[in-house]
Order: sequence, then C-alpha cells, then structure tokens
Amino acid sequence: MTLQNNKVVVVGAGLMGTGIAHAFAASGFATTLVDSNGQALDRAQQAIHKILDDGVKLGKMEATAAEAAKSRLGMQPDLTAAAAGAHLLIETVSENLAIKKAVMTQAAAEMADTAIYSTNTSALSVTEIATAVNCPERVVGMHFFNPVHKMKLVELVRGLATSDETVATMRAYCEAISKQSIVVSESPGLTTSRMSALAGNEAMWMLQEGTATAEDIDTALRLGFNHPMGPLELGDLTGWDTRLAVLKYLHQTLGDKFRPCPLIIKMVAAGRYGRKTGHGVYRYENGQRVPGSGMKGSAL
Ligand SMILES: NC(=O)c1ccc[n+]([C@@H]2O[C@H](COP(=O)([O-])OP(=O)(O)OC[C@H]3O[C@@H](n4cnc5c(N)ncnc54)[C@H](O)[C@@H]3O)[C@@H](O)[C@H]2O)c1
Repeated sequence: MTLQNNKVVVVGAGLMGTGIAHAFAASGFATTLVDSNGQALDRAQQAIHKILDDGVKLGKMEATAAEAAKSRLGMQPDLTAAAAGAHLLIETVSENLAIKKAVMTQAAAEMADTAIYSTNTSALSVTEIATAVNCPERVVGMHFFNPVHKMKLVELVRGLATSDETVATMRAYCEAISKQSIVVSESPGLTTSRMSALAGNEAMWMLQEGTATAEDIDTALRLGFNHPMGPLELGDLTGWDTRLAVLKYLHQTLGDKFRPCPLIIKMVAAGRYGRKTGHGVYRYENGQRVPGSGMKGSAL
C-alpha cells in the first residue's frame, strides 16, 4: 500500500490550509479541506484551481493531471464527517491553542486507529497540543512556509512524546509532496519563526523610529543580504495578526528581545494585517502592491 492511498484532512482553509491542501491533492492524495467558514472554503477552492490552471498554462503540469488533482480535493464544513477513517490530519486553523486542541479532540474521535495528528502551528507547543488526544506519540508539528506551492521546506517538530516512527512516516509524507523536511526539537519559534519574528519586529522598530522608509528597509535586506524578500514585505505576506500572536508567545517564553513593537500592535488594532486585508506596511490593489505605498516611519 503506497502512502498515496492514505486519506488526508486539512483543517483551516486560510492562507496556509489552501496551499497545503493543494500540495497533497496535486501529489496524488485524496484530500479534504475543512473550515467552519463556508466563504473561506469557496475562496480556497478557487485559489487551488487557479494554482493548478496556472501550472498547466506555464507547461509545468498536464491538463489531465490538474483535473485529476481537482477531483481528489473535497471541501467540507463538517470536521467530523471529513475525519472519518482519515490517516493524516493537518491542523492549520488560527494560531490559538484552545481552538487547535478542540480540532484535534474532535478529529480523534473519527480518525483511523494509526492516524497521525500534525499541526502547522508557527509557535505553539506541540507537546501541549498533544494533550488533546490520547496518542501523543502520533502528534507532530508539520510547519509549512508561505506560499506553500513555492516553498520547499517543512520543519517537522518533535513534541515530548513524538515517536521515531511518527517522524519517519512524516518524512515520507514530505517527500511524497516534494518538500524537504528538517527535524526540530520543540522549542519556541523553532528555527525559522524565531529568526523571522526577530527580524520582522526589528524592522518595525526601525520603521517606528524613522530610521528608514519601509521600501528602503526591505531593499537593504534584499540587496545587502540577498534575501529574496525584505522583512516588512514578508510580514505583509505572513499577516501581522499572525506575526503579533507569535511575537507575544516568544516574548513570554524567550524574553524581552521579542517584545512586540508598538507599531505592530497598532496596525493589528486597525485591521491592517497585510496582503490579506489589502493594507499592511504597504497597500495592495487587486493583489498587487501599490508602488510607493510603503510606510515612511514617524521621523521621516
Ligand atoms: N501565515 C503564514 O505565513 C504561516 C506560516 C506557517 C504556519 N502558519 C500557521 O498556520 C496556521 C494558519 O495560519 P493562516 O495564516 O493560514 O491563518 P488564516 O487566518 O488565513 O486561516 C485560518 C483559518 O482557520 C479557520 N478556522 C478557525 N477556527 C476553525 C475551526 N474551529 N474549525 C475550522 N476552521 C477554523 C478560519 O475560518 C480561517 O479560514 C496558524 O497556526 C499559523 O500560525 C502560518
């Protein structure tokens, strides 16, 4: 029996769940995407179809393969129905411990006996999330990167009880969806979020202090360090609401160097989350950044 015979359930049809469901459906897995918000499911389905159709137009994929991927993908508002007999759960709902645990508990009542429960949390404790089910050895972090269809890395995160067998199976799942996995012991922010949260926060402090404009801070990191994106444009892509939640957790667990910059708190209060709300550090129209729209900083 190949891994592709296993049924996959992705819970949370937001930015990340959309990309994750696409990755599994395009790689041959029967995949069900679940969200409590019907509009999120509609948006996700359209976005996945667009990625597949664009792949055909660019000659990266056969039209028949794209249609097959679409037919392997199901949309389902009801988690209980979606989880029945499934082998792999990928929880990628909002970054909130109580919500994530509730999703795990509800799914566990229905999933296959040997199922693996993974979470795409950016910074919460896998060990703590694992207390929601009675098989903590089969709970693991599966941390993807945005946009999922372009980013190769997955951080697999071992909680206190995660078994070697679970890690080995998850490495095989990553290979099956053409991702490169690394294994990280649970620690706040893992390797990447910890580094990225620090850089994004520091860039916001610089913006708040008027050290340089948003465009110039991003240009500095792109051209000075060869980063493909600057920390402020990356924050707009990730969403400052998610960023703030991560920073608050790192501040609490790792100390003062992660204290969220007040400008981030203000932006989140104003609903300026980034690309997903059309306005963050930059403004966006029809999904495109408006030239010259970057924040100037208070002293500039
Ligand atoms: N945004 C990123 O770049 C990024 C990267 C890696 C990991 N993550 C993590 O992935 C997770 C999701 O992030 P996102 O950016 O996709 O968030 P998002 O806000 O875009 O999407 C979250 C989705 O979860 C749904 N949801 C909330 N509660 C639910 C429930 N009980 N049942 C079903 N659906 C529910 C919401 O309706 C929403 O559609 C978070 O844990 C985040 O930390 C985010």
